[in-house]
Amino acid sequence: MWWRDGVIYQVYPRSFADSNGDGVGDLRGIIDHLDHLSWLGIDGLWLNPTFPSPNADWGFDVSDYRGVHPELGTLEDLDELVARARERGIHVLLDLVPNHTSDEHPWFRERRDFYVWREGRDGGPPNNWLSIFGGPAWTRDDETGLWYLHNFDPKQPDLDWWNDDVRAEFDDILRFWFDRGIAGFRIDVAHGIVKDRELRDNPEATAEDAEVVQRLGQRLVFSMNRPEVHDVLRNWRSLSDQYDGVLVGETYVHDLETLARFYGEDGVDELHLAFNFVFLLAQFDVETLAPVVARTEELLPEHAWPVWTVGNHDITRFATRWARGDAGLARCVLMLLLTLRGTPVLYYGDELAMAETEIPPDRVVDPEARRTGTGRDGARTPMPWSDAVGLGFTEAGVEPWLPFGDASVANVASQRADPGSPLCLVRDLIALRRSEPDLLGGEYTELHAAGDVWVYRRGSRHLVALNCGDEETVIEGAGTIVICTDRRRDGERVERALRLAPRSGALVRLATPNDG
Ligand code: GLC
Ligand code: CA
Repeated sequence: MWWRDGVIYQVYPRSFADSNGDGVGDLRGIIDHLDHLSWLGIDGLWLNPTFPSPNADWGFDVSDYRGVHPELGTLEDLDELVARARERGIHVLLDLVPNHTSDEHPWFRERRDFYVWREGRDGGPPNNWLSIFGGPAWTRDDETGLWYLHNFDPKQPDLDWWNDDVRAEFDDILRFWFDRGIAGFRIDVAHGIVKDRELRDNPEATAEDAEVVQRLGQRLVFSMNRPEVHDVLRNWRSLSDQYDGVLVGETYVHDLETLARFYGEDGVDELHLAFNFVFLLAQFDVETLAPVVARTEELLPEHAWPVWTVGNHDITRFATRWARGDAGLARCVLMLLLTLRGTPVLYYGDELAMAETEIPPDRVVDPEARRTGTGRDGARTPMPWSDAVGLGFTEAGVEPWLPFGDASVANVASQRADPGSPLCLVRDLIALRRSEPDLLGGEYTELHAAGDVWVYRRGSRHLVALNCGDEETVIEGAGTIVICTDRRRDGERVERALRLAPRSGALVRLATPNDG
């Protein structure tokens, strides 16, 4: 199955490539750069929202689920992208946003029963629920005096998933896109769309909760995360199965037991892939991450398949957040991502170890930044295709919708020409995965994970050793280095022990297979 063996690439369409010089990336721009994805060896392309939207949350506020945003192109452009991608063996996934619509969606006027409306309590909102973007999760409608629910921005009213008509609409939307050749969906807020029927107050966060929960101040046990969400996912799975479609969920949960449940019974009747935010939001140190991987391996149901990411459009780029600007550590992160058991998802620019871009205050456009102070714009800046004026993203002299980052090191053209670059490392690791069954289905066996050194075996013959620390380390074993983050060492024989310089990693083919 392509989504188990392959690599998925996430594109933020406004920032990938601008074909018409208006400073905003678009679908034709993606079509023009499919070569890059083929060259990398990508199998799946997940597009962040492509639907018409007033852009209060840059496409995550949808005003028509069956269309294409005019700034990004037309429905015909999307059809063409899907067809061209298919010629290259690339499957296109759309970003479905079922938790909420835009307040400018016609439903918000015509089908008020599609949304969650309530009387206020003591002159205030109906309950204590907080919005992820800050402030109460309720806004009062002046005309009726009733309050509507929005777990995100006030311009993103939550749909009422207790209403069967809402469910029927989304079944139809899924079919609409499957019929057009879409290979599947990333499902936004997949854990959260069903709300407590009685709208009970959320409990306060405690010291044991994940950092993000503590920052918010309450556990979202009633405003999201209801068990009934699994009924919706099971239904979508059976619908998707009729098309061989794939469902990848934004399962933003903070413990792995809960995550495992999103794969359904035996791991086969809900999501095909459930994003692992425990891994993604962890600190980058071996003694934190290795146990997360081990626990994930242990807890996923038999037929479930892990999925790994080191970044996305909502968090600081990994080269800054995890690797802290260190080129060697960034390569270790990429080696980790591409050698764990499971499907890797690369966020555009990850293959360049692209850093977070600093956004001057007058260029901030993220609604979350305006309300909470921490923004996501810095991880969404234009793809640097070259160091030319406009970075190959747009025409020279055009101001892009978000400022350019520093393209002096991270750009496709220069990294393609440099065999030691992160880009070539990613490409070569992907090529190796394709040809090496150990790296696809082979078991993950942790051999050592202490201090800054992480060593694991994949299948019977492959060993991955990552030295994330500042000291040289020596790892026992014999074989041949297939790929080292220091590419000059590719092909080196390892007689008895592998010496690894600080902040470097190696993938070794063992001389003697380990069948134990
Ligand atoms: C998800 C998206 C995020 C968006 C939010 C509301 O978390 O990844 O970008 O702001 O949902 O749709
Ligand atoms: Ca454009």
